[in-house]
Amino acid sequence: MLRIALIGCGHIGTVHSYALGQLTRADLVDAAITSTFDPDRERAEKIAAHHGAVAHHDLGAALDDVDVAWICTWTAGHAAAVAAAVERNLAVFCEKPLAPTIEDCRAIADQLRGRPHQVGLVLRYAPVFAAFADAVASGRYGRPMTMVFRDDQYFPIQGMYGSTWRGDVTKAGGGTLIEHSIHDIDVMQWVLGPASTVRARTAETFGYPGIEDVASVAVDFASGVSGTLTSIWHQIMSRPSTRRLELFCEDAMLWTEDDYLGPLHVETSSGRDAIVASPPEWIDRLTIPEVFAKSVAAYAHPSKTFLDALTRDGAAAVGSPSVDDALSAHEVVEAAYRSAAADGAPQSVGSIAPR
Ligand SMILES: NC(=O)c1ccc[n+]([C@@H]2O[C@H](COP(=O)([O-])OP(=O)(O)OC[C@H]3O[C@@H](n4cnc5c(N)ncnc54)[C@H](O)[C@@H]3O)[C@@H](O)[C@H]2O)c1
Repeated sequence: MLRIALIGCGHIGTVHSYALGQLTRADLVDAAITSTFDPDRERAEKIAAHHGAVAHHDLGAALDDVDVAWICTWTAGHAAAVAAAVERNLAVFCEKPLAPTIEDCRAIADQLRGRPHQVGLVLRYAPVFAAFADAVASGRYGRPMTMVFRDDQYFPIQGMYGSTWRGDVTKAGGGTLIEHSIHDIDVMQWVLGPASTVRARTAETFGYPGIEDVASVAVDFASGVSGTLTSIWHQIMSRPSTRRLELFCEDAMLWTEDDYLGPLHVETSSGRDAIVASPPEWIDRLTIPEVFAKSVAAYAHPSKTFLDALTRDGAAAVGSPSVDDALSAHEVVEAAYRSAAADGAPQSVGSIAPR
């Protein structure tokens, strides 16, 4: 059995704890959380109690005697936790964004490349985005022409978040673009291939220095396709994380307003269709209250895929998305921040190609 240390027991650590606990109890993975650490000791103890695990007083002790580090600290904590895990030769699941600065993102990528790892860019496991990727790869709607992505949510230092570090650039690295829309950039490149040039504008409407709450990004892809991303943190408390994606191909417009099951709407000259994407069939074996169903399913699927790969392939296991997929999205974000600082002047994207 793979022994997992959960490092960081806040909001997303709790979601992962729930998803991993469900997978373990349903016998869907040969793995369990055996150790936890969070400087907020009460949080570490609460999650440990759910798993019959040990809550440790320090990071090093939590990582001794485990096989996998599951890193869910705030963004600025990822680098030290990754380094400590690598020092112990552990497999690593690391939440996104990798780190607040591009230099630290590159350093984390250098450490994890070639080792068993996976990054928490979970939208690639959302059935509706898989359907988008498949529609483009199949070519059945002709060549892709342009993509319009809108991602909005209320400023995440309130409501269900229960923490304020997203208002602190030293911990978060930036605002809505790096913290939330790193997911969207990853999906855009996954579906359309690597970005080559970006132009961006940002705004700090709510006055948190370095924390943009609006980012408008125009992306040119190496394939010649274009796209735009509008990413917003507002104060409409009735709107949690909400996405709309539109893709025009030569022979169809495809769109969704739900970032997990869709449906994926398709309009062609012959009419309209709604493709309802399905989660994996084993999801039915989890017992999830309706209100948590979407988020637990969204994290359980990538977690099971990674743990199954570790059980099957050991040190040769390759998780997806990889740290290079994540770094590639970070290079786009970095180029967008450079462009915004240069009054929207076009900026070339660094050279890491997504898989
Ligand atoms: N993949 C996703 O969809 C997704 C969703 C939400 C959050 N996240 C990411 O997960 C990370 C955590 O976000 P959150 O919403 O859970 O924040 P949070 O504030 O709720 O929890 C963060 C926890 O990390 C702890 N912590 C800080 N430094 C630590 C350290 N050195 N070692 C151990 N624990 C430490 C804090 O005490 C806190 O309990 C962020 O990087 C965030 O961007 C990813």
